[in-house]
Formats: sequence, C-alpha cells, structure tokens
Amino acid sequence: MSESQKIDSLLREERRFPPSPEFQKNAIAGADLYEQAGADRLGFWATQSRELLHWHKPFTEVLDWSNPPFAKWFADGHLNVSYNCLDRHVLEGRGDRVALHFEGEPGDTRSLTYAELTAEVKKAANLLTSLGLGQGDRVIIYMPLIPEAIIAMLAVARLGAIHSVVFGGFSAESLRARIDDAQASMVITADGGHRKGSVFALKTAVDQALEDGATSVEKVLVVQRGGNDVDWVQGRDLWWHEEMAPMVADHEAKPFEAENPLFILYTSGTTGKPKGILHTSGGYLTQAAFTHKNVFDLHPETDVYWCTADIGWITGHSYVVYGPLANGATQVIYEGTPDTPHPGRWWEIIEKYKVTIFYTAPTAIRTFMKLGREIPQKFDLSSLRVLGTVGEPINPEAWIWYREVIGGNTTPIVDTWWQTETGAIMISALPGVTTTKPGSAQVPLPGVSIDVLTEDGQQVGPEGGGLLVITEPWPSMLRGIWGDDERFKETYWSMFGDRYFAGDGAHLDKDNDVWLLGRVDDVMNISGHRLSTMEIESALVAHPMTAEAAVVGASDDTTGQAVVAFVILKSRFVGTLSDEEVTAQLRDWVAQQIGAIAKPRTVFVVAELPKTRSGKIMRRLLRDIAEGREVGDTTTLTDTSVIRVISDGLK
Ligand code: WTA
Repeated sequence: MSESQKIDSLLREERRFPPSPEFQKNAIAGADLYEQAGADRLGFWATQSRELLHWHKPFTEVLDWSNPPFAKWFADGHLNVSYNCLDRHVLEGRGDRVALHFEGEPGDTRSLTYAELTAEVKKAANLLTSLGLGQGDRVIIYMPLIPEAIIAMLAVARLGAIHSVVFGGFSAESLRARIDDAQASMVITADGGHRKGSVFALKTAVDQALEDGATSVEKVLVVQRGGNDVDWVQGRDLWWHEEMAPMVADHEAKPFEAENPLFILYTSGTTGKPKGILHTSGGYLTQAAFTHKNVFDLHPETDVYWCTADIGWITGHSYVVYGPLANGATQVIYEGTPDTPHPGRWWEIIEKYKVTIFYTAPTAIRTFMKLGREIPQKFDLSSLRVLGTVGEPINPEAWIWYREVIGGNTTPIVDTWWQTETGAIMISALPGVTTTKPGSAQVPLPGVSIDVLTEDGQQVGPEGGGLLVITEPWPSMLRGIWGDDERFKETYWSMFGDRYFAGDGAHLDKDNDVWLLGRVDDVMNISGHRLSTMEIESALVAHPMTAEAAVVGASDDTTGQAVVAFVILKSRFVGTLSDEEVTAQLRDWVAQQIGAIAKPRTVFVVAELPKTRSGKIMRRLLRDIAEGREVGDTTTLTDTSVIRVISDGLK
C-alpha cells in the first residue's frame, strides 16, 4: 500500500470512544494539565518534578538551553535515582507493598516488597562498591528478565555509575561492540535464562565477546538462573549469590547532580554502527514518572501494572524499572515468551495477579488475534481497566480487537508514541480526558510540543502529512550519543535547526490528531524493534559468500515489517548452493552477527541491484518487489533492465 492509500484507509476509521463518566470520576489526569502546561511549560515541569521526586538538594533552575542541542534540566538540583525508586517508599511507610511479582517461565514465582527490593539493592550497591565501581563507570547488563536484572540496574544507578543493558537476544558480536563502545569495566550476566521451554545461554556469549576483544572488562558477575554449565575465568568471573551472601543491607544513597548520566542504551540508526543513546537522571526520572502516572492512570495503592517489555529496550527502562518504581507501583514481570507452555500464558498471568493496567506491543496483539479470541476468553480478564500499546503503529482492527476481547469493551486504550531518544512517552491520549480514535496516537502530552513539517520546514497543518518534529526541549530527552557529539547533531538537529527530527512520518487529521506513518529513514521496525537496513547489510557482506547486499523492510501482517534481503553472490559461489541453502546460511549468519531478531525473513539471490547514477541502492524499488507490487518510478535508475531481471528472476 502506498503512503497516501494507507492514510486514506486509516482516516476512514471513524469509530470514537469517549471516556466513560465512571472512569472520569477517579481519573488521575484531568484537562487542567494541558492548561497548566500551556500557561507555563517550564513551570509545569518544575512542579511535576518537585511533586513526583525527592530532591536531596532542590533545583532552582529548570531548563538550560543555552548550548543547543545539549540540554540541561534541573541542573543545580541533586538527587539519587535509586533512592527515589526505593528508600523513600520504605521511609514513608510503603515498605510492605509488593514492588515486583516475578513469574519465571518454568512457573517459579517470587514476590518482592519495596522493603525487600530496597534491601537487595543496598547489598548489591555494597558489592559493586567492593569491586571498585564508582560514579561514571560503565556496566553492561546482559540478563534475562528476572528480579536480579532490576536489582543490578538500580544498584548501578545508586552509585552514580552508568548501566547499559543489552537485550539477551543479541549475539556475542553485538555485545562486544557495545562493551567496546561504552568501555565498560564490568558485565553483569546470568548463566542462562528460560525461553520457549528451554534454557538459552548468556554467559557463553559474554565469554566469546571477551575472548578476543572488549579488554576494558575487569569483572563478570554471574547470576545463577538457567542452571546450565558455564566456563569460568578465575579472577574475572564471580557468582552473584556467593558475593552477595556476606553483604549487609545497609547503604546510604548519595545524591548526584541532576545531569549525572544514568544509562546508555544502544539503538539502531541509519548506519551500520548502533548509537549509544545517553540519558541522565533528574529530567529523565521526572518524565518517566509523570507519564507512567498520568498516561496509565496509576493508582499505586490498588493497581497491578504489567508491561511486557524486556529491560533490554527503552520501554523496559522507563516503564518496567524507573517510572513504575518511582511511583511506588506494584507490578508483574514475566521472564518468558507468551506461548510457553501454552498460548494463553499471558492471560493466565493477568487472571492470576488481577492485573489492572496492561502495556504491550501491537505485534503481540496481532499474533493473538490470529490465534483466535477463544484463547483469552478462557481467562478472567475483568480486572483490566487500562490498556496501552507502544513500538509501532497499531492498525484499527487490532486496536478494536484489543479493546473488545482483552478490554471487555470498556477499557480505554492509550497508543503511546515515543522513542529510545525521547526517554518517555511524548504523544498519547490521556484516559479520562481524550476521546480515543483507533489507529491514532493523537495528541502531545502536556508539556510536550510537536509539529509536522514539510521537508523544507513548512508546517503542514490539519489534513497534511510530513515529518514529525519536537519543537521544544523536554525533560527526558537524550543528552547525546555516547562519545559522538557530531553524530548526535547530524542525526537529530541538522534537518530543522533547533527542532528535534524524530525520523518518523506523520499525518495530521482535521482535528490536528497525529497518525504515525512509520520511519522515513533506513530504519526498520520489526515487531516494534528498531533495526537498520545498513546494520544487516554490513553483516551480510561480512559473509565470505556475499559480494553485495541490500536490505529493505517489507510490510508484514504480524510483525509490522519484516527483513527482506537481496544478495549478490561472489562469482565463485554462484551456482554452488541452492537458493534455499544460501538463505539458510545467511539467516544463521545474521543471527550470529546481530541476533535472532535481525534474521531476514526472505533472502533473494539476485544478479544485480537497482542503483541510481550516483551508485545509491534504490530501496524503494526493492520494497515494491519485496511486497509484490508493481514497481514504481524507475527513471533515475542507471539501468532499467535490472528491475525486470530481478523481478523476472523471482517469479
Ligand atoms: C515507532 C520504542 C507508531 C516509531 C518506545 C519510533 C511508534 C520508533 C509508536 C521508536 C506508536 C513507537 N505508533 N509508531 N505508538 N511507538 N513507534 O526507539 O517509528 O525502540 O520512531 O522506542 O518506534 O522505537 P524505539
């Protein structure tokens, strides 16, 4: 479907869902938030920050934008992020409230109260200190979704050190690149984790990553989880449980400056090298807490919240760790996949813990839709009262299914648009305030200013389409790309001056509501996860068999987009293997180089690639082919026969 067809069919979606009066009666957010923020944007954020967080030393300054694009928020204030997520809840009498209900994939469970979680983090902070970790040091966390992963993040934060969580599905190669870029001195990992009914090894990948590279790492802390055998490097590797045993649960959280770095999270950009998105403390925590409370209508005394994201992604940082814990929420975390040991596992968990707020990705919803409503209907989902989605556009059919089948036709749905770079939700309905439209992320949150512009910077206005920008600095904005200020400026701030360019296409409808249309750059969105075409192309050409490669994201009913690769083989390999064998080898190779999520769905072996006269691969044409469409305008091609040759070859 072309972009204009896509938007035409979206805009035919006319169902509207106003908030119910019952919901509004107890709603956390009211329309007054927009008025307050509209009247005094910076004052609004300052008030939110003071109300939501504990500042050891109060700030007097809100925003310093004197050196754009490098923002400072609340710069003269001091706080401790871990104290905000833990100690203060205990000190204020909430120690007995459950912070985490952990559900392991094999069925083991553990609940930790705020008092217990605080004690564990204090012990871990003492352990990390004893291993020499201090402010500003980098720690890689490469773990399954188990309580220790969260304990590790909060312990690192407590010391003013910087964590970089690497998703457990990434390969040893990807891990090594991230360790090297961050120059991390420590890795916290597990022997393995549980996934799809078996144990996947993590420590092995760490060993591989450290074997001939990643020389900055001095210590590897290993949590016992999978029970799988591991190799051991004496002096470098330490068992978490052995080291934690003698530690005392007494540790004072020292305040740090608001701009002290909190974490680096790597994400795909338009080049082969992932970028380390840098977030700092005070502004980040303010917006994570504000959005978590208002977008999800959090009543921390009674709600049970569940966000299905892994901590390896930004959603896991902001809406599993920092937002919910800063707000004193009770939440569920689940280690495994939705279909293990049966396809109703998620719904069973909702029934078991009486989950009230549920936040997941459209891909998951579409997968469940395919499996059929009989599965969720076997479970009691009546506890649910707010549903959210994130990561990719949600098609109206999936939105309606989510509301009807999971939400019992009553729950508000918030479709939240944001990015690793924005740190927290930027565009979303507010339940209790907004009349929702299936398929649209709708309105910027109070205190957030956005616009949709043409390529030369003109506002498109209502009923226009263009590029999404953020026009004013926001508290949880990225502070840079780790070690690469130039790339930071170039990527986000070169297109429209001091307005942030998000990389997404968007359409405004007649009410000025935003409809997201996907990436406009060479970044793909596979199941809500960002991957760059360049990153996979460079992995493909690193294979001895490949001469050239081009990768495109083709639309896919379940995963949103799917990776499709076109490869030219080196002449000595042509004809030596069947296309199926080439495909199998290259898929495995990409999994080894990047991780299983990056595996191409389809590999086409071709003789040539369509290029412009300046030698740029015309991905648009390849996308047409990959999606089985009539090939579009080919006038800028060097050789128009190439396309015919490719498409004929594929028939
Ligand atoms: C896409 C995930 C449409 C978008 C939090 C963005 C969305 C990228 C939505 C960021 C949404 C995220 N509707 N598209 N509600 N949410 N996206 O960094 O293309 O993993 O630029 O952050 O996901 O992906 P990231």
